[in-house]
Amino acid sequence: MATTSWTRRHVLSLSDFSVAEYDIVLRTAASFREVLSRRTKKVPTLQGRVVTNLFFEPSTRTRSSFELAAKRLSADTLNFAPGSSSLTKGETILDTAKTYLAMGTDIMVIRHREAGVPHAIAREMDRLGTNVGVLNAGDGQHEHPSQALLDLFTICRYLDRENPHTALLQGKKVAIVGDILHSRVARSNIWSLTESGADVHLAAPPTLLPKLFREAMGQKHPDRLHLHWSIEPALEDADFVMTLRLQRERMTANLLPSLREYHQQFGITRDRLQRCQPNVQVLHPGPVNRGVELSSDLMDDPALSLIQTQVTSGVAVRMALLYLMGGGRNS
Ligand code: NCD
Repeated sequence: MATTSWTRRHVLSLSDFSVAEYDIVLRTAASFREVLSRRTKKVPTLQGRVVTNLFFEPSTRTRSSFELAAKRLSADTLNFAPGSSSLTKGETILDTAKTYLAMGTDIMVIRHREAGVPHAIAREMDRLGTNVGVLNAGDGQHEHPSQALLDLFTICRYLDRENPHTALLQGKKVAIVGDILHSRVARSNIWSLTESGADVHLAAPPTLLPKLFREAMGQKHPDRLHLHWSIEPALEDADFVMTLRLQRERMTANLLPSLREYHQQFGITRDRLQRCQPNVQVLHPGPVNRGVELSSDLMDDPALSLIQTQVTSGVAVRMALLYLMGGGRNS
């Protein structure tokens, strides 16, 4: 399995990922995707290693996906749940991390509702001179690298099942529609898709897509990032449409008149997809508000929706990341 030129101990952000690194992840994930289609789905790669999931915020698919990925690599897994932990007794997050370090953790997978927490823990692990790798599984509204990498894998594998690689994205149009302002998934996807050569078109009401977003996210590839405050120009000839959940828990002001009105203006429906390329595919990181971001029947249509494939791909991509951060890098 190719690991040459993989040098990262931590995966915290995609803002500085190179095309070569994306291609290593895609190649490695493709071989694990093949392992997952075998009868025996387990490999001994991380035997004896400990992968700890530190999820300070709710999660269904990301947490389960990391747990399954670690198990399929034969690692021992620890799961931390804040509600039933010593955090409720006043322990700090860094002390919680150090407790898991003392138990022999090799890789920490961290989700927190505040941006920067995985970075702070990674810095502390480095300061202590440990070899622990930290993976950001979603920090506030900042980044969610493993989600964007699984989206990239899903898209590239749709374009070439045998050999998913970034060059397939040259000239492809990807529309990202929904609550972009509050979305760490959007931020990580903008880094990965534009770096890989895709044209990314963002569409949302102005309250969820401020003009300043362009300055913040368009520095590296200004020609590949486009903002729209109506849905039609984003969908025109799009090859992929990525929808994002309206994150009601993160909305502090009343940014939308109503969910019904949002669906009328920005909801993805069969009718609206007529504007896209004939083979257009719809993605969503989940969880979905059915009938809000996209119409319910569309979500369940395997000819148009890659949503279930994203979940399956997620395990292979997370196996690849754990492998590269742990076993693959050193062996
Ligand atoms: C996303 C997340 O938590 O950032 N979901 C996920 O990880 N699959 C997106 C969301 O919550 O809307």
